[in-house]
Amino acid sequence: MISKAKLDLAQLLSVECQIDAPEIYDLLEIPKLYDHGHLALPLFGLAKKLKKNPIQWCQELADKFSKKSLDFILQVNPTGGFLNFTLSPSYLSELLFSSLQKPKFYQGSSGQGQTVVIDYSSPNVAKPMHIGHMRATIVGQAIRNLAETQGFKVIGVNHIGDWGTQFGKLCWAYMEWGQEYDYSKNPIDSLLKLYVRFHEEAEKNPHLEEAGAAIFKRLEQGDAEITVLWKMMIDYSMTDFNRLYKIMNIQHDVVLGESFYNDKMADVIQRLEKAHLLKDSEGAQVVFFDEKDNMPPCLIKKSDGASIYATRDLAAAIYRREVQKADLILYVVGVEQILHFNQVFGVLKKLSYAWAEKCHHIVFGRYRFKDGKMSSRSGKVVFMEDVLHQAIDLVGQMVEAKNPDLENKKDVIQKVAVGAVFFNDLMTDRIKDVEFDWDRIVSTEGDSGPYVQYTLVRCKSILRKYNGDIPLRPSVLMAMPEEQKLIYSLLRFSEVLEAGFRQFKPNILAQYLLELCAHFSQFYHHCRILGAEAELQNSRVCLVSATEKILEQGLKILNIEAPESM
Ligand code: ARG
Repeated sequence: MISKAKLDLAQLLSVECQIDAPEIYDLLEIPKLYDHGHLALPLFGLAKKLKKNPIQWCQELADKFSKKSLDFILQVNPTGGFLNFTLSPSYLSELLFSSLQKPKFYQGSSGQGQTVVIDYSSPNVAKPMHIGHMRATIVGQAIRNLAETQGFKVIGVNHIGDWGTQFGKLCWAYMEWGQEYDYSKNPIDSLLKLYVRFHEEAEKNPHLEEAGAAIFKRLEQGDAEITVLWKMMIDYSMTDFNRLYKIMNIQHDVVLGESFYNDKMADVIQRLEKAHLLKDSEGAQVVFFDEKDNMPPCLIKKSDGASIYATRDLAAAIYRREVQKADLILYVVGVEQILHFNQVFGVLKKLSYAWAEKCHHIVFGRYRFKDGKMSSRSGKVVFMEDVLHQAIDLVGQMVEAKNPDLENKKDVIQKVAVGAVFFNDLMTDRIKDVEFDWDRIVSTEGDSGPYVQYTLVRCKSILRKYNGDIPLRPSVLMAMPEEQKLIYSLLRFSEVLEAGFRQFKPNILAQYLLELCAHFSQFYHHCRILGAEAELQNSRVCLVSATEKILEQGLKILNIEAPESM
C-alpha cells in the first residue's frame, strides 16, 4: 500500500535527480521518526556516485521541491543527508481507501508461482510436546501464514519423530507391561511412563537394551505384530497432538514423519556413493567436510547398518525438492539443532545441489519463566499443555473477577488465553529468549495479545453502535494529526507482511500491530467518532472500519482469533 507512494515518489525523483526510478524506489525508506515525514531518501550513496556533497545536495533538492506545487507532497525537509517527504492528507487517504476496496488488499506477489515447504512443530511420537515444540509450533504457523500472504503455495509438514531404536524399546515395554496403563484419557502420558519404566529397568538389567534393539530390528523388517503396536503408538500420539493443535488452530498439510523416508534411504546412500562422498570411519559411514567448514563429519550409517536422524533428513530434503517441488525449504526447529542442520545442508552442498542454498534453519531462543512461575510435572521439561492450561486458568480468573456474565465465556477465555501465549511469543524477536511474565502476558493494557484483541473489540463495538452502512471512503478530509498518523500506520500493513516473511520474523508484524493499536487509541481519545457532525462521523467510522479490517487480518496471520466482545 505505501509502496504505491514509493512508486509515485521514485518516478518524480528520478526525473529531478537523473537516476533510474527503480534504484530510487529501493532506497526509499520509512523515516526512523514519524515527525520527520512519511518517506525518506538517504542521499549518501547517490551523492558519492554523482560526486556531490550529500548535505548540500539534500538542501538544494528540498528547496527545489518546496517551490513546486505537487498535490501529493505536503512538505519536503532535509535532515542530515536524508530528504524527508510528508505526503498530503488527501493522497494518503485515497491510497488507503482505494486499496481497501480489494478483498486481499494486503497480498504480496514475491512468492507467486513458487512453493515453500515449511517443517514446523514436528514433535516426537510417544512423548508430550514440550515448550521447545511450542515455539516451533507457534513461530512455524505464523511464518506459514506470512508465506501465504506473499503468494507462495505452502506445504506445511509435520515431520514427526516416529522412527528409531526407542520404538523397539517402547514396543518391548508395551508387550511386557502395557496392560497396566490406561490409554483412554492421556495416552501419551501412559506411553511416557512405559518408556521411563523401560529405562529404569534397563539400568538394573542391561539385557533389556538388546531386547529393545531386537524388537526394532523386527520393526525395520516389517514384522506385522510389531508394526501394529508401533502404528497404535503413532495413532495415540497423533490424537493427543491434534487435540492441542485444535486449541491452537494449527494447520499442517501433511504429516510425513521420519519413518516415511525409510524406503528412500538406499537412494540417499547411492547418491552419496556416486559422488564418492561416503567414507568409512570405525565401521560407520560418514561424510567429511572441508577444513574451512569447520564441522565434524556427518554420520550417515551406523556400524550396525542403521540409518540415523541426519540420513532421514537428507532423504526428506531431497523429497521436498524433487517430489514436493519446493523452491524454498524452511525448518522451524530449536537452536540446539544448529549443527545437525548445518551438516545436513552441508552434505547437500557437497552433492552439488544448488538448491541447498534455499534450505533455511529458522532458529529460535528459549522460554524463560519469570520467578520460576511455571513448574514442570516431570521436574525437567515444561509441557506445552501445561502452559496452555495455565494461560486458560489465569484468563478465566480475570474474566470471573471483571466480567462474570460475559456471553460465550468459555470460548472468549480460550481465545484470549491462547492469543496471549501466541502474541507473547511472536512479539519477541525469535532469536531471543521469550520472557514469560504471566501478569503482563494476560494483561489487556500494554504490550500483549489481549491488548490488541481488546482494541479490535473496541473497533467492532463502535461499528455495531454506529449501526449503519459503513461508507467505502471518507467524504471529509482526515487531516487531524491523529487521523493522519493512523492512516499512515494502516498503509504500512502490506510492507510489514512482506518484510516479516522476507526475514522470517513474525515479530515485525506483532510490533506493528502494537504500534497500530497505540495510534488507534490516540485517534480514539482525540477525535470524537460517534456523535460528531454527520459527515465527519461517517468518515471517522470509515477509518475505524479500516483499522478493524487490518487488526483482524494481522491477528489472523499471527494465528490469533479475536472474540466479538471481551
Ligand atoms: N522431532 C524433532 C524434535 O523434536 C524435530 C524435527 C524437526 N524437523 C526435522 N526435519 N528434523 O527435536
